[in-house]
Amino acid sequence: MAELTLKSVGKTYAGGVDAVSDVNIDIKDGEFIVLVGPSGCGKSTLLRMVAGLETVTRGDVHIGGRRVNDLDPAERDIAMVFQNYALYPHMSVRDNMAYGLKNRGESKAVIEERVAEAARMLELGQYLDRKPRALSGGQRQRVAMGRAIVRQPSAFLFDEPLSNLDAKLRVSMRMEIRKLQQRLGTTSLYVTHDQLEAMTLADRLVVLNGGRVEQIGAPLEVYRKPASTFVASFIGAPAMSLLDARIEGGQLSLAGHALARLGNAPGPVTLGLRAEDLRIVDTGLPMRVEYVEELGAQRIIHGMVGDQALAVTDTHDTPLGPEVRVAVDSAKIHLFDAQSGRRMDKRLQTVSEPAE
Ligand SMILES: Nc1ncnc2c1ncn2[C@@H]1O[C@H](COP(=O)(O)OP(=O)(O)O)[C@@H](O)[C@H]1O
Ligand SMILES: [Mg+2]
Repeated sequence: MAELTLKSVGKTYAGGVDAVSDVNIDIKDGEFIVLVGPSGCGKSTLLRMVAGLETVTRGDVHIGGRRVNDLDPAERDIAMVFQNYALYPHMSVRDNMAYGLKNRGESKAVIEERVAEAARMLELGQYLDRKPRALSGGQRQRVAMGRAIVRQPSAFLFDEPLSNLDAKLRVSMRMEIRKLQQRLGTTSLYVTHDQLEAMTLADRLVVLNGGRVEQIGAPLEVYRKPASTFVASFIGAPAMSLLDARIEGGQLSLAGHALARLGNAPGPVTLGLRAEDLRIVDTGLPMRVEYVEELGAQRIIHGMVGDQALAVTDTHDTPLGPEVRVAVDSAKIHLFDAQSGRRMDKRLQTVSEPAE
């Protein structure tokens, strides 16, 4: 087990693509960190630099206090689990799991004991003599996990390990991975483009955008206080609605409707509203209903305020007219700089509502 540190890490591929820029992350011993961001934002590049599968162009990678930039993957004491499982097709489950240990010359007794232990944890005991092609996707993923576990590495690295599984299996494997990691206490760096997977797995999230870190924090912290419009729209479903609004004379207004008294400087702002923080009421902000997503326990009403899109969560099932009224709680609004998209502190003027 070990802490893992990335210091000003950057990667420029041959040809000049800046895939990762100035990434700083301190991962504590035993922590589960999830790197999350859209496709192409540099997640795999970052993970592969930690693993030693890509050279580090700039900065330093430390594993357990040791600078590993110039070490081969095998010398880094890490185990990686990939999306495509990367199992050897001609080997049995047992041999797939044992392979890394045999390679580094562990004794037969140690190998047998560790494989048996991993098989027990992963409920793979009855499949040990099968070849990977005779296993389901979920079982193959478990073998890939088993192969990582038996090595007792100081860190696990996961690159979208659940992306090839169907939705239901993904949810159950997600829980298995988390439980296993908690039990083993192994420092983990996990990559996914799926914000829900990231939210549910992580001790802390690292949100990446264009090779740069947008925000690092506990899932709820990131959800409640997104540092930028990028994070706001990426974390949470439905996505936070982002609207052009104005502050004038101490009043925040949207499409000509006053929403809150604010002490912020006058000018344009980007207003962020989460669907679940809004309510359908009798009087309030008028919204034209465009379509309704029925989710069973609730429905998401998608509409337009002027020419801007807004989503509202509603738990009623009464029929809706073409226009509804929406209540906006000023304590729950998010403000972002209209130019940079960075989060702004809001200066609430109402005495009854606590400032954040
Ligand atoms: N071997 C490579 N050579 C050149 N560019 C690459 C290479 N691998 C990835 N890239 C580029 O680097 C960026 C980040 O890619 P990647 O790390 O795979 O993103 P992610 O895993 O988040 O989808 C992308 O623009 C991608 O096209
Ligand atoms: Mg990737």
